[in-house]
Amino acid sequence: MELLWKSHMMKVIKLVYVLLLVTLMNSKVSESKKEKIISTSFEYNGINCRANSVSLKDFGGVGDGKTSNTKAFQSAISHLSKYDSEEGSQLYVPAGKWLTGSFSLISHFTLYLHKDAVLLASQDVKEWPVIKPLPSYGRGRDAAAGRYTSLIFGTNLTDVIVTGDNGTIDGQGSKWWQQFHQKKLKYTRPYLIELMFSDNIQISNLTLLNSPSWNIHPVYSSNIIIKGITIIAPIRSPNTDGINPDSCTNTKIEDCYIVSGDDCVAVKSGWDEYGIKFGWPTKQLVIRRLTCISPYSATIALGSEMSGGIQDVRAEDITAVHTESGIRIKTAVGRGGYVKDIYVKRMTMHTMKWAFWITGNYGSHADKNYDHNALPEIKNINYRDMVAEDVAMAANLEGISNDPFTQICISNVTISMAAKAKKQPWTCNDIEGITSGVTPKPCGLLPDQGTEKIKDCDFPSDYLPIDMLELKKCSYSI
Ligand SMILES: *[C@@H]1O[C@H](CO)[C@@H](O)[C@H](O)[C@H]1NC(C)=O
Ligand SMILES: *[C@@H]1O[C@H](CO)[C@@H](O)[C@H](O)[C@H]1NC(C)=O
Ligand SMILES: *[C@@H]1O[C@H](CO)[C@@H](O)[C@H](O)[C@H]1NC(C)=O
Ligand SMILES: *[C@@H]1O[C@H](CO)[C@@H](O)[C@H](O)[C@H]1NC(C)=O
Repeated sequence: MELLWKSHMMKVIKLVYVLLLVTLMNSKVSESKKEKIISTSFEYNGINCRANSVSLKDFGGVGDGKTSNTKAFQSAISHLSKYDSEEGSQLYVPAGKWLTGSFSLISHFTLYLHKDAVLLASQDVKEWPVIKPLPSYGRGRDAAAGRYTSLIFGTNLTDVIVTGDNGTIDGQGSKWWQQFHQKKLKYTRPYLIELMFSDNIQISNLTLLNSPSWNIHPVYSSNIIIKGITIIAPIRSPNTDGINPDSCTNTKIEDCYIVSGDDCVAVKSGWDEYGIKFGWPTKQLVIRRLTCISPYSATIALGSEMSGGIQDVRAEDITAVHTESGIRIKTAVGRGGYVKDIYVKRMTMHTMKWAFWITGNYGSHADKNYDHNALPEIKNINYRDMVAEDVAMAANLEGISNDPFTQICISNVTISMAAKAKKQPWTCNDIEGITSGVTPKPCGLLPDQGTEKIKDCDFPSDYLPIDMLELKKCSYSI
């Protein structure tokens, strides 16, 4: 009886022991699961949050900088395309170097880059499918035939976010720049991010390096936020424009830092007869807190492709350092279209060739068939509250002889000339306008009206619809 009792007790003890072990192990497992969750949780503000999130690693992604991930991106995104607008989806790119060719986004979708994730653009031309030239340009910029699809591309989409905790997209552009200089390109170089015919776009918190050509190109699109972007390319790299809103409506560009070989922001809307026919303007654009370094180009350029028209551009709190020009309007006979209702205030410039530059004879035509009667209309251009230092020429403002550029208004602008500055700080032809409180003394075509006329260069006091859009706080753990 006693023996039996003893063996029973042993059994109970064993059972308790086993149970204890199992619980211990379980708690270990759940602890490590918890750790995993904590290590990959993140949040950001987005136009929309997504219910479904997957990692590139789950689709065969290899972040060694050598293996191509084009197929991994494509299969992950194709898998996510089953989610509808209610749920939405997100592709998470973890830390690593992810070599890839061009891939396309979908609607109701977020591409998120970890802070140590680097997308490396492939230098293998087979990774870049060729598409038709843009209808508003009639041909490619580098070569007539077609254009390589952008690294991150989307067309006819709605509700798209490309963001990250300042993750990096490296275009590895040197090979493309070489081919451009050697005139070996069969097609126009790809951009880093292009969204076409799309609506509700957010591109934020990323670093873009060494683009083959332009960096960010929203085209024929609307309701766009571009925020917290760092763009860096060598100052002599060809056509590495920073951000090019092209035939877009209701766009906000904020808190961007750009060093590049071409214009930091270039506002566009199609080229000559193709742009006129397509007739899709860029309008309602606000640019805030932009810092630009571009020794051979402009801080903000309007044109030269402006044949669909550019209207209602507001820029404020802009800083330019070691940059060729502050605001530059570029156009030509044959462009048609217009640039009007342009407002810029609170701009600070250091070490510039020109503070203001308007060129009416930019040339550079899509082909010989442009309409010699298609004159651009340039009017209501307003600059105020600016300080510039170390400037070679205050302004070079040249309209077109039978087509003067009108209603130019400049007020409260102080330009300190460089030690080696040109004798004549202002050059003006075929323009009309007024100034007040501007030094050095403007050209005769821009007479000083006294301070009561400062009102004429007023900045709009209303807000654009894009400023009313509130971002949602999105948090994820995967
Ligand atoms: C940018 O990153 C910061 C954190 O550094 C985050 O608070 C913010 O929501 C992000 N903004 C956007 C527009 O992605
Ligand atoms: C995209 O939208 C444009 C303009 O609405 C249309 O002309 C074009 O056919 C569409 N493309 C696709 C692939 O649906
Ligand atoms: C993002 O990274 C770039 C490049 O390293 C850096 O210059 C920039 O300051 C970073 N931006 C933020 C907001 O951390
Ligand atoms: C003139 O511009 C400076 C900034 O450059 C600004 O601080 C000042 O308030 C402006 N003056 C008026 C009268 O608007």
